Amino acid sequence: MNLPILSTLANLVQAAQVAVPSDPTAEGTFWFPVQASTLAPKSDWTFYYIYWISAFFTALIVAAMIFMAIRYRYRKGVWDGEESPGHGLALELTWSGIPFLLTIAMWYTGFKSYMYGDTPPPNGYEIQVKARQWNWEFIYPNGAKSTELHLPVEQDVTFVMSSADVLHSFWIPAFRVKKDIVPGRYTKTWVHSTLEGQYTLFCTEYCGKDHSQMMAQVFVEDQATFDGWVAKQANPYLDEDGQPFTPVAIGEKIYGQHCFACHSIDGSAVVGPSWKGSWGTERTFENGDTRLFDENYFKESLLDPGAQVVKGFPPAMTSYRGVFKDSEIDGLIAYIKSLGN
Ligand code: CUA
Repeated sequence: MNLPILSTLANLVQAAQVAVPSDPTAEGTFWFPVQASTLAPKSDWTFYYIYWISAFFTALIVAAMIFMAIRYRYRKGVWDGEESPGHGLALELTWSGIPFLLTIAMWYTGFKSYMYGDTPPPNGYEIQVKARQWNWEFIYPNGAKSTELHLPVEQDVTFVMSSADVLHSFWIPAFRVKKDIVPGRYTKTWVHSTLEGQYTLFCTEYCGKDHSQMMAQVFVEDQATFDGWVAKQANPYLDEDGQPFTPVAIGEKIYGQHCFACHSIDGSAVVGPSWKGSWGTERTFENGDTRLFDENYFKESLLDPGAQVVKGFPPAMTSYRGVFKDSEIDGLIAYIKSLGN
C-alpha cells in the first residue's frame, strides 16, 4: 500500500537534486542558465521558494489523498456512515493562516527583486538600445554603434531603450533581465553583470515574421578589454570634416541651432526653464502636477510642448514634431544630461 507513495517521494527527491543550484556560476541548473548578474540570484531565489512550497504541498496533498482513498474506502459492513464533524475553528484558522503567510512571503520576495531589477541605480554607464524589425543596435556614450552588445563586468549599466516600429522586448536570460520596448516612448532597465562570458539577447515579444531571428550576442568583458573595444568601434556620427561626433556633441549643435534662445545652460531663466542641472529634477506644472524630467518627459515636451508647461513660464514653445531625427533627440537628451543633475 505504501509503495506508490514511497516511489513518488523518491522521484521528488531526485528532481530536487537536479533543481538545486550547486554551483550557479559554472553551468546553470536544470531550470536556469548560469547566473551572470546581481539580479539573477534574487530572481532564482523567488522561483525556488515558490517551487519548493508548491512541491511540498503537492506531495503532502497527493499522499494524503491516496492514503485516505485507500484507508477509508467503502467496504460493505465495515463503515456504517457515522456523522462527519461540522466545524473546526482551530483547524480552519491554521489552513487559512499558514498559506496566507506563505503567499505574502512569495509576494514580498517577488516584489523586492522586481523593484531591484526595475530601478536603475544613478550614474550607471548608459547604453542606448534601438530595437527594430528585426535587429538590435547599441549606441555607447562615445557614439560607437554596434549590433553586438558589449558590457564591462562588475559595472552598473543602464539601458535606455526605444523602438523604431512595433513592440519588442529585451531579454537576456543569463542576467534574468527582461523589459518591453514600447513604440513612441523610452523604457529603461539595467544590469550589473558579475561574470565575464558570452550570452544571448533575445527579443521576447512577438514582433512579426522574423521575431525568432531577432537576437544579439552579449559579451561581458573586463574593463580594459571593454574600453579598448568601445574606443575602436567605427563611429556612425561624423561631423562635416568626417570627425567622430558623440551624442552630446550632436545635442550641443542642435541646441545652438534651435533651443538656445529660450533655454539657457547657465541656470538663468530666459523664456523657458534653464537646462542646467535640470535633468532628473521634479518639474511642477501650472495645475500643480509634478513629473520627473526624464527621457519621456523631454520627448513629449518636444512633440507637444503645451501639454505640461512648467509653473511660472509662458506656453511659448511650438511643437518640434517631425523636425528632429531620433538620433538628434537622443543627442539633446545626452547634452542635457551632460549639463549636470
Ligand atoms: Cu522584436 Cu520580437
